[in-house]
Amino acid sequence: MNIIITGCKGLLGSELSHLFCDNHNVFGIDLPEFDISDKKSIESFIINKKADIVINCAAMTNVDLCESKKNDAFKANSLGVNVLANLCEKYNVKLVHYSTDYIFDGNKGLYYINDIPNPINYYGASKLYGEFEIIKRKNLEWLIIRTNVLYGSMGEANFINWLNNSLVNNKKVNIIDDQFNNPCFIDDLVDFTEFVIDKNLWNNIFHAGSKDYMNRFDFALKFAQIMNYDKKLISSVKTKDFNQKATRPLKGGLDIKETEKLTGFKFNLTEDNFIKLKKTL
Ligand SMILES: NC(=O)c1ccc[n+]([C@@H]2O[C@H](COP(=O)([O-])OP(=O)(O)OC[C@H]3O[C@@H](n4cnc5c(N)ncnc54)[C@H](OP(=O)(O)O)[C@@H]3O)[C@@H](O)[C@H]2O)c1
Repeated sequence: MNIIITGCKGLLGSELSHLFCDNHNVFGIDLPEFDISDKKSIESFIINKKADIVINCAAMTNVDLCESKKNDAFKANSLGVNVLANLCEKYNVKLVHYSTDYIFDGNKGLYYINDIPNPINYYGASKLYGEFEIIKRKNLEWLIIRTNVLYGSMGEANFINWLNNSLVNNKKVNIIDDQFNNPCFIDDLVDFTEFVIDKNLWNNIFHAGSKDYMNRFDFALKFAQIMNYDKKLISSVKTKDFNQKATRPLKGGLDIKETEKLTGFKFNLTEDNFIKLKKTL
């Protein structure tokens, strides 16, 4: 198959490109050469590459930056998705898209697929609008995979790489203990994406994450324990003391049991993912 991966230099896009290039013709695009909101260039790329699937990993993911640069966030997370969905519908190309638990308000935690979204920051709102741009299409085959707190071995900007670099250099870190999620190992998300594409489970929203639910502080402690780092380097802080520009959902995270039932895919425990990750760091 001919697969276009947008945001191919990012955390998820780079891993997906790596995996899919073994069995498919993969064409990665990213800023600054390609902006997904630029209809003309994306249209000719889709035509030239005879795309079968577009996997959209392009997004503005810095939650605080989205709050201060709302136009840019809208362009990447909403308008860009509109352009991709329009073109995929027009040229009969399937579209895989990623969304986030930040479309929810964080009052409940471990959200079900059909829970009512209620974003409390602009990143969440712009991503929710992106979902609407896809779901409303009548003649598009699409998949929306919502996920939360991605981590893996690639990508400088991910939380675990930052934590690893700090702890290995004996640097003290402050980690928030009142934001809860079920962080998603990128390898699991990549495997899940391949799994649902292979099974042709189009026109569904699915949730991806780990089997367990925890706050960031406990997530960091678990990592330190598996890696044999000094846990005393990690201190806990509260969200209210952290001074983040965008409001964060406190009880976030995504229920994965529904998705496991619907697809037959099994997600892993964080501890098992850390053990796998340890071999690659
Ligand atoms: N990371 C997480 O914890 C997390 C959690 C929940 C959901 N997600 C979702 O998962 C998907 C992948 O996230 P990620 O962590 O891999 O993101 P990422 O590492 O920030 O990568 C996104 C890539 O998209 C590029 N990009 C931004 N705007 C673009 C545009 N208008 N046109 C083309 N490319 C553009 C970025 O370029 P620049 O770097 O130059 O801006 C970057 O290379 C996103 O949909 C995100 O919302 C991620």
